[in-house]
Amino acid sequence: MSVQLDNVVPWGRSSPERLGEVGLALCSHFLFLYSEQLPLEFHVTAVREMVRVAEEVRIFPLLDLECRESVHLRPLLEVMRGEGVTAVIEPVNYEFQRGGNQMLNITSSGL
Ligand SMILES: C[S@@+](CC[C@H](N)C(=O)[O-])C[C@H]1O[C@@H](n2cnc3c(N)ncnc32)[C@H](O)[C@@H]1O
Repeated sequence: MSVQLDNVVPWGRSSPERLGEVGLALCSHFLFLYSEQLPLEFHVTAVREMVRVAEEVRIFPLLDLECRESVHLRPLLEVMRGEGVTAVIEPVNYEFQRGGNQMLNITSSGL
């Protein structure tokens, strides 16, 4: 299932209103990958919105287009943890970009 994030994109259908209506929100090869083009604020807004609607959020990979760790990863972790969500970097078996074998897992149960 694909859900457009209304407050970060200028198109798409409405996202669910209720917290946790979506069990799992996946973001693949978008956030972090375009770190040069999309500022930290965009990343924070997008992740907040996914956390708002989904019980669990997974973002992969954590690298930018140059196969470097995204400059937004650590600041985003700090922001999200400061807001009380559990944000954990986890290894995955899949590796499309060299070194890109980690995902960010975010859960917000209890918020
Ligand atoms: C590299 S592709 C990845 C496609 C797919 N997620 C995958 O992993 O195969 C980047 C995707 O980001 C989408 N995209 C671009 N700008 C976006 C935005 N502002 N909000 C949501 N998606 C966007 C594009 O339509 C494109 O499908």
